[in-house]
Amino acid sequence: MGIRSKLALVLSLGIAAATAATAAAFVRLQTAALRESEAEKVQLLLETIRQAGTESSVSGDPLVLLDQLAFLRKTRPELHHVRVLWKGEWHDVGGSRPPDPPGGVALRALDVAAAAGHPGFQIEAALSSRVLEERMLRERAALVENATRSGAVVVLCGLLFSALLAGALTGRLRAIESAVGDIGAGKLGTAVDVGGSDEIARLARGVSEMSEKLKELDELKKTFVASVTHELRSPLGAIQAQVRQALAKDEGLNDRARQSLDRILLNAERLEHFVTSLLEMAKIERGKLDYQPKAADLGRVAEDVVLFFAPRAKEAGLELVFESNGALPPMRFDPDLVAQVATNLVSNAIKFTKGPGKIVVRVAPSGTGASCEVQDSGIGIPADSVARLFRPFERAPNAPRSTGTGLGLALAKSIVEMHGGSISARSELGQGSVFRFELPAAPPAPAA
Ligand SMILES: Nc1ncnc2c1ncn2[C@@H]1O[C@H](COP(=O)(O)OP(=O)(O)O)[C@@H](O)[C@H]1O
Ligand SMILES: [Mg+2]
Repeated sequence: MGIRSKLALVLSLGIAAATAATAAAFVRLQTAALRESEAEKVQLLLETIRQAGTESSVSGDPLVLLDQLAFLRKTRPELHHVRVLWKGEWHDVGGSRPPDPPGGVALRALDVAAAAGHPGFQIEAALSSRVLEERMLRERAALVENATRSGAVVVLCGLLFSALLAGALTGRLRAIESAVGDIGAGKLGTAVDVGGSDEIARLARGVSEMSEKLKELDELKKTFVASVTHELRSPLGAIQAQVRQALAKDEGLNDRARQSLDRILLNAERLEHFVTSLLEMAKIERGKLDYQPKAADLGRVAEDVVLFFAPRAKEAGLELVFESNGALPPMRFDPDLVAQVATNLVSNAIKFTKGPGKIVVRVAPSGTGASCEVQDSGIGIPADSVARLFRPFERAPNAPRSTGTGLGLALAKSIVEMHGGSISARSELGQGSVFRFELPAAPPAPAA
């Protein structure tokens, strides 16, 4: 669960709890007030009866009183029964007394005689406890319903407010998270500005500064690699030329010296290969590789590479075959760069296959463009290494030492991706590997 959801949840729970507590306290207070008001209503009713009784005893005429009481009994359901003691005799008002309701009655004897000077004049009212209690419960239920409804509205508003607040607070964190993701994906120099001067703003500034520093360091590394490799090339070229010249001389060299020179030449060539690869990686990183797409034939490029490697494959006891499966669409790519990719794949296949074995280079239409596959029956690659091999300097643990630098596949990937294509590998340890790259028919425009 993200911080945003957690924050919104905690705020919402807090608001809901506070609302529930407030509503409960409100209902309790209101219930007490309701009880009081009910008691007052009963008091008022009794007072009205007493008043009527006093007036009629003064006038000495109970008929008006009986009428009034009959009316009250009809209109006030809590008045279960009323009777009047007049001249020593009880008169039921509005018919005889019905049986007591469930819950019983509260009997109130209202002695109005003393005030009026008519001894023996009394009124007795029986109030239905059930009606009183039910009315109280009804009013309380209405109160609870109102409080619940208002509480629900408050909680809904609270939820909305929590979501908005959590969104506003975590939006800045998300901006930093996305910037860190960009930096991790290689977009060095990415800056993030979240405003304000609190801890989050300071974190954002720190991330921006770190990203800027990383960019500077990366530039420094690229410039360093580019200039070092560039500086290495000329003396290396001179060494190779000198050694070749010395070897070309027929006389004056004994076998030992010739062997030494051969070894020097071989090592110089390896070093030159490494330096050239490094230089090309640096050029790709700096967007300075000479990239000139033109109308070209992938089948032709791949076949040329196969022809070039045929003698070396034969020497290693390997059968190297070229297959073209179907007509390819017209395509545009840089044939020199793509030849470099195919060269690396075929040279790897030869390098990592012990004779006797077979290497097939297969070209076929694929999607809008075409694919080129190099399949070998060599040593294979451990499953957990396959994806890593396209990174610079990565080599599989089963690769014989001193057979390479680990730059070839990284270069191949950069070149293929520069063309808008993709490269992948699948392999089975001890059985062989298939490296395959695909190019679209129309490549992206060269970077300016
Ligand atoms: N056809 C293959 N069979 C087995 N392993 C391979 C094959 N191609 C590449 N690899 C593995 O990938 C690694 C990287 O290849 P690459 O980038 O061309 O570098 P290099 O050839 O200089 O070692 C190799 O060292 C090897 O471990
Ligand atoms: Mg290689």
